[in-house]
Amino acid sequence: MLFMVLAGIMLKTPHQVYPIEKEHLAELVFLERQCFAQTWTIEQYQEILDQDNYRVLGIFPDNRLNAYIVFCLIQDEAEIINLAVHPEFRNIGLARSLISKTIDVCAQAMVKKIFLEVRSSNLPALSVYRDSGFVEVARRIKYYQDDHEDALVLSLNLIPSDNIPTQD
Ligand SMILES: CC(C)(COP(=O)(O)OP(=O)(O)OC[C@H]1O[C@@H](n2cnc3c(N)ncnc32)[C@H](O)[C@@H]1OP(=O)(O)O)[C@@H](O)C(=O)NCCC(=O)NCCS
Repeated sequence: MLFMVLAGIMLKTPHQVYPIEKEHLAELVFLERQCFAQTWTIEQYQEILDQDNYRVLGIFPDNRLNAYIVFCLIQDEAEIINLAVHPEFRNIGLARSLISKTIDVCAQAMVKKIFLEVRSSNLPALSVYRDSGFVEVARRIKYYQDDHEDALVLSLNLIPSDNIPTQD
């Protein structure tokens, strides 16, 4: 009983999120290959880290990279480009912690809206995004070239009052 209570607390505890540096890129690409069919190279990630408007964050339990997120800031909008968690460490809240940190970083950068694209069949990702407040704003029919699956475009409005029309 005590174990179940402790396990429940651990699952709900936010995980520490840190910036990913150049020395982690080999580990990042190795992790990405376990999570996606199409992956970026170390050189592509190096270019991303060199750009001011990209952020690459990770979770390193026991000093091993187990989860990461990539997003970019474009004026007052942001786009989540990649999010993945090592298959052995899923369903313990790592992705939620990364999204939560991303929202904090975006809010501090005065971002108004965060966008992302996700496969319509990706139920774990949709669960994380919807629970974090993202809503579907568009469907791109047969968007993915490999299997013609639809993409859903989700967005999170960080300034809800923007939606209220002003009275002149
Ligand atoms: C999507 C992904 C990042 C989620 O990471 P994660 O750390 O397991 O996510 P979390 O633990 O924070 O939350 C997972 C949620 O999905 C839910 N879930 C898992 N499998 C599910 C399924 N088949 N159907 C519906 N919900 C599901 C879990 O129940 C959990 O929700 P809960 O906490 O309310 O119970 C991970 O599965 C992954 O890396 N997938 C491969 C890469 C990918 O698809 N990335 C997203 C690209 S947009």
